Amino acid sequence: MTSKDKIVKTEFDFGYAKWKEVPEVAKLALENQKGDVLDVGCSTCQLASFMRENGWKGKYFGIDLLKHEGHDYPKEIDLVIGDAVTMPFPEVDTVVMYDILEHVDDPAALLSKALKAARSNVLIKVPLRNEEMWNLGVVEPHQKDRTHKHAGFSREEVRKLVELSGGSVAKSRDLDRIDATTTVKLWRSRFAMKLHYLLAKMFSSREFHATLWCEVVRASR
Ligand SMILES: C[S@@+](CC[C@H](N)C(=O)[O-])C[C@H]1O[C@@H](n2cnc3c(N)ncnc32)[C@H](O)[C@@H]1O
Repeated sequence: MTSKDKIVKTEFDFGYAKWKEVPEVAKLALENQKGDVLDVGCSTCQLASFMRENGWKGKYFGIDLLKHEGHDYPKEIDLVIGDAVTMPFPEVDTVVMYDILEHVDDPAALLSKALKAARSNVLIKVPLRNEEMWNLGVVEPHQKDRTHKHAGFSREEVRKLVELSGGSVAKSRDLDRIDATTTVKLWRSRFAMKLHYLLAKMFSSREFHATLWCEVVRASR
């Protein structure tokens, strides 16, 4: 082995190219889309398959930086491989931006571009940054993704981001509740783990959420 060989793992599978189960945000996209959809940072376009299987008849456009080798893509989609920051967006009814704003240097500019392309609404999903929870020693999964430009958003940053992009929040939903208990440190013992689950049922914990979902519309409406 030479120093040119990669000896430290730097790429990880975060599971987004193949869902283990349909995420809540996919159902929210189906409920809140208004017709044709542009999915920015679409990965393997699983959202298109899910919406089609559930009766959605609109046109689907996807943009992603890369094509994920070894994954099947749905038929009848319009997929463009390229940088969403520089690619022109087609005009659609709804733009979906799930887990993409944390990947770009200027999320407000990208959201603003989406609002211009959307005849009706933009649906966003962002990882929340719960610094208070970090102090308890609980790490958030998105912190480990090296392709992120930063460690998630605070609620105030999301508010500012939407305002700067010329939008306003029509609806929002906190998702992926985290039970921020420090007893996870005891999980080497099955007894302690079971006791932890029992205690968690008996006592409430400080509540945090990993994800914020919003429907954003143009502010002038
Ligand atoms: C965390 S995944 C989210 C995938 C999908 N939206 C979902 O919610 O399951 C982020 C995706 O955005 C893509 N991406 C990152 N930066 C991008 C950019 N500048 N333009 C287009 N796609 C980008 C990545 O390749 C990846 O597929």
